[in-house]
Amino acid sequence: MSKQDLAGKAIVVTAGGTQEPIDPVRHIGNRSSGKMGYAIAEASRDRGARVTLITAPTALPDPPGIKIVHIITADEMRSAVLEAVSQAEALIMAAAVSDYRVEGPAEQKIKREHGRIILELVPTADILSEVPDNIRKIGFAAESENLIINAKIKLERKRLDMIVANDITDPESGFNVDTNRVILIDKTGSVDELPLMSKREVAEVILDRVAGMM
Ligand code: CTP
Repeated sequence: MSKQDLAGKAIVVTAGGTQEPIDPVRHIGNRSSGKMGYAIAEASRDRGARVTLITAPTALPDPPGIKIVHIITADEMRSAVLEAVSQAEALIMAAAVSDYRVEGPAEQKIKREHGRIILELVPTADILSEVPDNIRKIGFAAESENLIINAKIKLERKRLDMIVANDITDPESGFNVDTNRVILIDKTGSVDELPLMSKREVAEVILDRVAGMM
């Protein structure tokens, strides 16, 4: 049995990659598998927390013992997160949220005979920045260059307690694998480079930090 250091705590975890509709059958998505967020949700549950998992579509089964909220778009993720955090002590935002959505998706399936088309994209809201600072906020930064600098900028801009940075060009910590190599950066500026671990092990280290903050 896991240690029960999160007993009685309410934790919101997000996972997966949000999808933005182009027309009724097509969307813009990203390569997030949801594995990191699901591992954090399961580890939080096993350490005694009451967990709400807000998830974009993934190939993963719903884990038992967790309240699951299925969403598709960034805007639906935003509404679900803002509602859930009002009852929570921590938010761990592992989802890959679309930064843009299609303005005015087509109501009918777009036909090839249209030839060349242009999709107009508009930015989505930054969810983490909208979450009040009275709960602990953990973000993720998946970067392809200048990992630590970019992660520190996000930590400050989104007013986070900690950010989990990973290099997506590293095949062992990229998308849809069971391992991850991450760097934990907290708001005091401390930088902790963890070795290659399973996503479940990474989840446990993140939760050690979260438990220490609460
Ligand atoms: N995030 C969010 N709302 C968004 C986009 C991202 O809350 N609309 C969260 C992600 O879940 C993640 C963190 O912010 O925890 C960093 O996501 P990322 O996409 O790397 O950050 P962006 O602010 O979108 O910066 P970039 O321009 O590098 O994409």
